[in-house]
Amino acid sequence: MSDFVSDFWSVYISVIVIAGVVGLGYLLFSQGKAVAPKQGGDKVDITGHVWDGDLVEYNNPLPRWWMWMFYITLAFGAGYLALYPGLGKFQGLFGWSSVGQYTKERNDAEAKFQPLYDQFLKQDVKAVAADPKAQEMGKRLFQTYCVQCHGADARGAKGFPNLTDNDWLYGGDPATIKTTIEAGRHGQMPPFGAAFGEEKVKDVAHYVMSLSGKKHDADRAQRGTETFKAVCAACHGPDGKGNQGVGAPNLTDNVWLYGGTEKTIIETVTNGRNNQMPAWKDFLGDGKVHLLTAYVWGLSNNPKAQ
Ligand code: HEC
Ligand code: HEC
Repeated sequence: MSDFVSDFWSVYISVIVIAGVVGLGYLLFSQGKAVAPKQGGDKVDITGHVWDGDLVEYNNPLPRWWMWMFYITLAFGAGYLALYPGLGKFQGLFGWSSVGQYTKERNDAEAKFQPLYDQFLKQDVKAVAADPKAQEMGKRLFQTYCVQCHGADARGAKGFPNLTDNDWLYGGDPATIKTTIEAGRHGQMPPFGAAFGEEKVKDVAHYVMSLSGKKHDADRAQRGTETFKAVCAACHGPDGKGNQGVGAPNLTDNVWLYGGTEKTIIETVTNGRNNQMPAWKDFLGDGKVHLLTAYVWGLSNNPKAQ
């Protein structure tokens, strides 16, 4: 594979590099011809530079050790260019490339771990979760692919669910966790700001606050009840306990994906929410997804393994 779009640049670079090496070699050679004047000899090699009428400069040879260092460096450079990429498109006799090295290391690692993945894949998620070695592998996978959103401790952040608390948007049984990881999730709550207007949004927000026993305005909550039953209950359930089928969170438990303050609830209801958990099946494959499922399930079901 080459990054060059036309042969011109490849040739251009090769010519400059080779001309550089040859040119330097010639310069060295030409400068190496000066001979040290013999002690007491009368024939003196002078550069021809003259200052103030009688100050002249001896044409002394370059130190030999220095010359040899330079020759060795040139030879090394030539050897390197023959073996490794450096001359435009020429791959070098070793055929080395950074992509090739990465692919090889990756394949080696896959070959090493594949039997382990296969072995765990045959076991039930709960059994895998109880295996310290599988937990270790699951944790490492989680640290690689999931932490940027769910956090190093898997406790999430605003908009990214906590995976350790046994409170689930979609469900915490092994099969559901696996479906979530394989296919991803798209949590969608429609916006109601335009349809309701500010006051009605505020009323229903206070009703939501009352559900988890937060301090709220009782009159507003009273007015909001109607709206909730008519509109919100369709997804969040008549009692506000949520619906894992559509990923509508339980609003009564004081566990919040975005936040339970008046301001945040108003924001949620006004603008709606749109949240994406990526799908991993194709990228990670069955073996890794299985280990991750066991790891995530274990986070809230076998506390020791954390
Ligand atoms: C780009 C950010 C991102 C990455 C990376 C990510 N997730 Fe998620 N994940 C989310 C979001 C956002 C949600 C919530 C989706 C929603 O609100 O509907 C979620 C939800 C989940 C859920 C469902 C939680 C519940 O309460 O039902 C699980 C399980 C989960 N992720 C596991 C993982 C695992 C395992 C990985 C690593 C392979 C991972 N996630 C990587 C963003 C991410
Ligand atoms: C079409 C289904 C649907 C309807 C109708 C709906 N919601 Fe939601 N709601 C959701 C979903 C799904 C989420 C989670 C979004 C996500 O995963 O990011 C959510 C999230 C929320 C949250 C954020 C909870 C948290 O933990 O931060 C609040 C608050 C909320 N809804 C209140 C309401 C209210 C009040 C109404 C009625 C005005 C309503 N919802 C109507 C589906 C719905």
